[in-house]
Amino acid sequence: MRKGDTGAGPSPLTALPTPVAPVADLAREHRPGLTDDPEWYRTAVFYEVLLRAFGDSRGSGTGDLRGLIDRLDYLQWLGVDCLWLPPFFPSPLRDGGYDVSDFTAVAPEYGTLEDFEELMQQAHARGIRVIIDLVMNHTSDQHPWFQSSRSNPDGPYGDFYVWSDDNTRYPDARVIFVDTETSNWTFDPVRRQYFWHRFFSHQPDLNFENPAVREAMFDVVRFWCRIGVDGFRLDAVPYLFEEDGTNCENLPRTHRYLREVRALVDREFPGTIMLAEANQWPEDVVEYYGTESVPECHMCFHFPVMPRIYYALREQRASAIKEILADTPDIPVGAQWGTFLRNHDELTLEMVSTEERAAMYGWYAEDPRMRANVGIRRRLAPLLGNSRAEIELAHALLLSLPGSPTLYYGDEIGMGDNIWLPDRDAVRTPMQWTPDRNAGFSTADPGKLYLPVVQSLVNHYAAINVEAQIAQPTSLLHWVRGILEVRRQHPVFGNGSYIPVQVDNEAILAFKRTNAQETILCVFNLANTARSTTVELPRHAGASVTDVFGGARFPAVGADGTVTLTLGSRDFFWLLVSRPSIHGDEAPMTGLPAHVPPAEDAGRDGEAVSPSQPQRPETYVVPSAPHAGSAPRVPELPGFEPTTAHGFTQPGQADRAADRAVTGSGSGATGYGGAAAGQGGPGPAVDRDMGDHGTGDSGAGDGGAGAGGTVAVAGTLGQPRSFTGGQPAPVAGALSPGSAGPAQRRTDPSAATPES
Ligand code: GLC
Repeated sequence: MRKGDTGAGPSPLTALPTPVAPVADLAREHRPGLTDDPEWYRTAVFYEVLLRAFGDSRGSGTGDLRGLIDRLDYLQWLGVDCLWLPPFFPSPLRDGGYDVSDFTAVAPEYGTLEDFEELMQQAHARGIRVIIDLVMNHTSDQHPWFQSSRSNPDGPYGDFYVWSDDNTRYPDARVIFVDTETSNWTFDPVRRQYFWHRFFSHQPDLNFENPAVREAMFDVVRFWCRIGVDGFRLDAVPYLFEEDGTNCENLPRTHRYLREVRALVDREFPGTIMLAEANQWPEDVVEYYGTESVPECHMCFHFPVMPRIYYALREQRASAIKEILADTPDIPVGAQWGTFLRNHDELTLEMVSTEERAAMYGWYAEDPRMRANVGIRRRLAPLLGNSRAEIELAHALLLSLPGSPTLYYGDEIGMGDNIWLPDRDAVRTPMQWTPDRNAGFSTADPGKLYLPVVQSLVNHYAAINVEAQIAQPTSLLHWVRGILEVRRQHPVFGNGSYIPVQVDNEAILAFKRTNAQETILCVFNLANTARSTTVELPRHAGASVTDVFGGARFPAVGADGTVTLTLGSRDFFWLLVSRPSIHGDEAPMTGLPAHVPPAEDAGRDGEAVSPSQPQRPETYVVPSAPHAGSAPRVPELPGFEPTTAHGFTQPGQADRAADRAVTGSGSGATGYGGAAAGQGGPGPAVDRDMGDHGTGDSGAGDGGAGAGGTVAVAGTLGQPRSFTGGQPAPVAGALSPGSAGPAQRRTDPSAATPES
């Protein structure tokens, strides 16, 4: 391996990023819709969106920046807080863009840098942040750095990569892409040496021993920070350095460099977050947080918990999830896990045992074409057999386990996959907007699409699309939107401690999320038949138990500190556990939601929502397919139409009720009125649930329509679980500057200890 000082001399290559002047302060006026909460990522919901797949504004067959801008209203309506954009840089696209050939440009097929700036502004104006991928570990072999390195070993880029005269070094480093690669070394016929690569053989690893490489990557960070990105997902970050006698993963020098990157962003671009992709065991991943005094990343994806969600569903036992969380060490104050169900890669099975992996392949990848590398290349809905109950249960776990969740585009409508496409393209097909040509994604000739839209028997885009699901009140899309809103009302899901809870049924997973404001008991039945269980809550003897979705009261925790719950197949509860004196008689056990004061009253002691804050649109109408050559179509947003079939609340009323919700829960009181209002503004008093119309035990029967200032609502959430929620009123703590309140710290040292 050659080392050396290669940073000297003028760069002959345009692709080497020009050093950029640091921007000391990202002024708020550049981010008009965003909260000032420096720990926003701890309560945020992320949404991974592939530019190529979301919206084609030009009829080119490929999604682009303008196409995404056109769809931001949808994302705001859905209720996500931060987009994660995988690479959109110039690339030969042999690895979905992770084979970067220029780190500081936008690939022409996606638009221009100006378009990217416009995306940032438009997203921020809607209160949505954007993080992008930072591919530090490697480049495409088409990158000018590599072209120079291979042809001019003594030139300025000669040591930008890891070269060797033979292919024997670092034998303990595993091959990651086992489907396509047999070695981490590939012979380069031009330089007549081997180069090192942890991924594809067309993706040479950068040589981080070289100070010029480290500096070049700093400049890439500066470049995108200047444009205003809110953070980076650090791609393949464990592999930056190599060392003899090790497996070349998680090395101390890798951590040292990441701490330098963190120091840079904290110093020059405060507020920019770093999210690590480190597909490792929990004890290794936590190293990527650094320490409170010398931090590294703000967030790390929790890879091991993800496959265990799927495992537990098929095994019908909670133990796999419980055990991995018990094995997960504490993380520093201010840090956060990243949870996910699916992403643009295969569902990786690297972090499970051999036996578990074999079982997972049997359960979830019966056709060999469903497998890729050490994993399964399928989407959420088909993985779960399109079972609505399982999809909901998986989402409920995702949204309540410790960490900030990332949704994968299309999973909110239960999009299918296409296992007949190669590699991970199976899960990267165009977003399905409408039943029209190309699913409303593009006006191009269908044969010109970057990938065909899904037309499978079960998941055909004519049936699975945004437009149809908006029209159907009980759709998965409305359900997902509703549960996101409920989560938003309870920051404890983001910033609270995780406390496992003892139960006497192995199919049941139970834990508490708790902060200074509230405690929510989360209970999941992983079995496909009904289960009853006794939950041990010794510290809550006599406490009231209230469903956070509909506000119905459950039997109180007994004097012995236990409560018995019965759950149907794949059922779950999120239950507010609070002191009985606070609830009093307000929440009857008849199934009726508690009485909530009329919106006019609700506003009185409420905290004002800043008018400058973006409001969630009440309705979203899918725009018709954009037309090539025409100006970008702005989604039609009829706004707040209280008399439409959906009967949504007028914005002012929603705001006032939301304020009240904040007053109730944000003040530390877990009083029922506040907490209930918190589940969706005027939600509990407003029947937004079609499923309940027939039963009469809904808010409509409780004077809810008047209370919420709405007409009867045709529902926002679907079967089999339905709840009142989904009212898209902003919560001051989530949207209003300065009102987020003191960020909750991890307070409970017993977080890993079951309560019993
Ligand atoms: C990351 C990306 C994956 C890519 C790999 C190599 O794991 O998620 O898509 O193939 O890095 O860049």
